[in-house]
Amino acid sequence: MCGIIGYIGEKKASDFLIEGLKRLEYRGYDSCGIATADSGKLSLRRVSGRVGFLEEAVEKKPINGAVGIAHTRWATHGIPSEDNAHPHTDCAGEIVLVHNGIIENYAELKEKLLVAGHKFKSETDTEVVIHLIEDKIKSSNPPFSTSEVENGGFESVFFAAFKKAIADIEGSFALAVIWSKCPDIILSARLHSPLVVGIGKDENFVASDVSAFLKFTRKVVFLEDGEIALVRKNSIEYFDFAGKAIEKNSVDIKWDSSMAEKGGYKHFMLKEIHEQAESVENTIRGRLLPLEKDILKKEIGLDFKDIKSLSHVQIVACGTAYHAGLVAKYIFENFKIPTYVDFASEFSDRSKIIDKNTFLIAISQSGETADTLCAVREAKESGAKVLAITNTVGSSLTREADYVFYTHCGPEIGVASTKAFLGQLSAIYVLAIHFAVMLNKISYIEAEKYVKELIKIPRFVKELLSRSDEIKKVADKYSDYEHFLFISRYVNFPIALEGALKIKEIAYVHAEGYAAGEMKHGPIAIIEKNMPVICIATNSKVIKLLAGNIEEAMARGAKIIAIVDEESKKHIKASEIIEVPKTLEMLSPLLNTIPLQIFAYYIALNKKCDIDKPRNLAKSVTVR
Ligand code: M6R
Repeated sequence: MCGIIGYIGEKKASDFLIEGLKRLEYRGYDSCGIATADSGKLSLRRVSGRVGFLEEAVEKKPINGAVGIAHTRWATHGIPSEDNAHPHTDCAGEIVLVHNGIIENYAELKEKLLVAGHKFKSETDTEVVIHLIEDKIKSSNPPFSTSEVENGGFESVFFAAFKKAIADIEGSFALAVIWSKCPDIILSARLHSPLVVGIGKDENFVASDVSAFLKFTRKVVFLEDGEIALVRKNSIEYFDFAGKAIEKNSVDIKWDSSMAEKGGYKHFMLKEIHEQAESVENTIRGRLLPLEKDILKKEIGLDFKDIKSLSHVQIVACGTAYHAGLVAKYIFENFKIPTYVDFASEFSDRSKIIDKNTFLIAISQSGETADTLCAVREAKESGAKVLAITNTVGSSLTREADYVFYTHCGPEIGVASTKAFLGQLSAIYVLAIHFAVMLNKISYIEAEKYVKELIKIPRFVKELLSRSDEIKKVADKYSDYEHFLFISRYVNFPIALEGALKIKEIAYVHAEGYAAGEMKHGPIAIIEKNMPVICIATNSKVIKLLAGNIEEAMARGAKIIAIVDEESKKHIKASEIIEVPKTLEMLSPLLNTIPLQIFAYYIALNKKCDIDKPRNLAKSVTVR
């Protein structure tokens, strides 16, 4: 996730763009840049680091022009650095572009563009798009004549080239492009990444979200996937990707600017909960099909020879990432790959049983968690190969690991991990399926069964999120309880732990997560009417056992809140039923987590807790 903004009008573009970037910084903050066009020339400033540095650079060396674009980056391809910062330029330095999203086929496009003589200056996936536009302009026929230029010929060539370029790219994008030869337009397009147009008086904007220009206009047009905006200072035209003109209606935004950064949500946590369909989609997209393609080799340099002598997988992680690791154990072992999971902070002694046949997976949203980094170092000393699952390009973990598999969730601002967890789970499914196929543990046919269901998950997530109000009602009813017990079995047992962690962390309510079968070995003693039991009871080979555990809790006066699906609900008696879409048992953690996040969120809201910054906690724990 990155933030993009474009301005075209009569005033100094850089003032609007820097102001807009400050509002977009929550979308990424590892590097940033700005470009303007003035008198047929482009000016460009880029820095590694936050928007404040860019502002200083522009103050020291101002840039003129009433049209410009800017970007704040959350790296996905290529480390955070000045060279990798947007905007990116073509070879001639005349066209400039900002991008939010991922170009999945960038490697093959780059190969062709290199052969055609293009010179690349960054490691990003984005840069192919600008060279592609340049290429299409160069090959436009007929070449420009003076009369064409006078009649707006450059604009039509630019538009045609832009259209052709986006037809060639696969993945997700929100783009804004300017060409110094036609400084009266910004071209912008959207596919699977947000983009909104702001309509001002004698000036217009494009941006990743309305917060970027809310100070200047509240009249906006939201672009949909597959749409292009051709933006002038006094008018905007909209097209589909085939170039057919389309009508769009504007809306007036009533949010204040802090709400706008949060996409209209009250907290980043709630916004991030609602971004989870994209987290799953972005993390699995292009990585599963077709399985025969050696995707892991291509993407992270890992192939069969790297895992053929693997004796077991060892996972290390902390907090929510550790819960993702626990789910991973069930997934890998379902595919007959032995897997151990440890808190990174408890790994010290375990590292003694690590050797060169251990494949260690470290999971960390931030990639900076001190305990996880320490565990990785110890494992490496013992000869293990290390794969990092992380959301943060260029983080310390990525530098220490042998292989890095990114989750593509965008920055997670709320301290409570939500969308990063779903991204981690998605990454685990992708890796486990590939490992199982490479190691001949499952057939392609079996793998396809999981793949086919996994690609349905983003739709199920959206469907579930659209029913958040039902979960809010349950939370409202249970906001005064001081204790909760979360239970489940098998692959959803870690989700019980995660549900308990969320409510402790943001609502300061005592909660325990327990394996349902273990209740009778102790915890059942604390069950009474003031201890609601939340049971994750979706369809499972152990559903009847779980139903029995629920009866035991009910018999001791506990209220039961059950997470069920259409299949399991016939087995379950409960005070409250929350139904989630039905999927394969192995994939059900991806859905079952969501009601627990929403439940914790509304309880914390009712208790007026500081949800995005809970007391005593930090987003990234860099001490041991
Ligand atoms: O950045 P990491 O994934 O390594 O962070 C690990 C934990 O600190 C983190 O998951 C923490 O438990 C969250 N606040 C939980 O919501």
